[in-house]
Amino acid sequence: MLKLDTKPEGTPPKPHESRFYHNLVPAYQAVWPAVARRRIFANLSSLNIAAGAKVLEVGVGTGLALDAYPDHAEVLGVDLSEAMLAEAETMIARKKWSHVRVRPMNAEQLEFEPESFDLVTSFHTISVVSRPDEMMREMVRVCKPGGRILVINHFRSENPLIARVVDSAGGLTRRLGWRTDLQMNELLNELPIEIESCHKDNPLSLFRVLVAKRV
Ligand SMILES: C[S@@+](CC[C@H](N)C(=O)[O-])C[C@H]1O[C@@H](n2cnc3c(N)ncnc32)[C@H](O)[C@@H]1O
Repeated sequence: MLKLDTKPEGTPPKPHESRFYHNLVPAYQAVWPAVARRRIFANLSSLNIAAGAKVLEVGVGTGLALDAYPDHAEVLGVDLSEAMLAEAETMIARKKWSHVRVRPMNAEQLEFEPESFDLVTSFHTISVVSRPDEMMREMVRVCKPGGRILVINHFRSENPLIARVVDSAGGLTRRLGWRTDLQMNELLNELPIEIESCHKDNPLSLFRVLVAKRV
């Protein structure tokens, strides 16, 4: 099992530029919420987040998921793109939320002490960052023992035929800033977690929902 009580040493990982997202905020906001919102809401509410829980969302973007968290939780969202965070901040101010904050931060080098959060979430981000394994390791590091990690993302299919078909789109999607060949099992190797569930909301969905408990 990996030791997680220290932050990665040496040269900080080069963050994903996020220029794609910076430039595309308006278009992104027009199409993405309809696709993603329902899935995020259903899976977050099934976690029954406790009163006073400290929640970290990594790659919070424009704050698409923020109103799915109960207002009895203390929610912090981080993202590399300040343009995305500006949208989230506008929404937080409009909704007069006092339980939600956002701040700029690299997912691959989270600026928190180990074991700081009861729940660490991330939606549609781990295949966008430069070093997904480092992001996952960081999410686990900052989660308290007994706390939960919820990741919703596209991962490479275990069905070789589907994997090949999706791989053929990989060149295009990489130019858009995200990869299709991320293997979930490789990301989770040796981390101090127990997988509680890993499912798709429907068989045709491209996205997997991973719920893990930090041990
Ligand atoms: C596809 S968007 C998903 C945003 C949001 N979670 C959602 O579901 O709408 C990916 C997000 O990852 C952010 N991102 C990319 N690289 C990052 C990094 N190294 N650290 C933090 N955020 C990053 C982008 O700025 C963008 O907001």
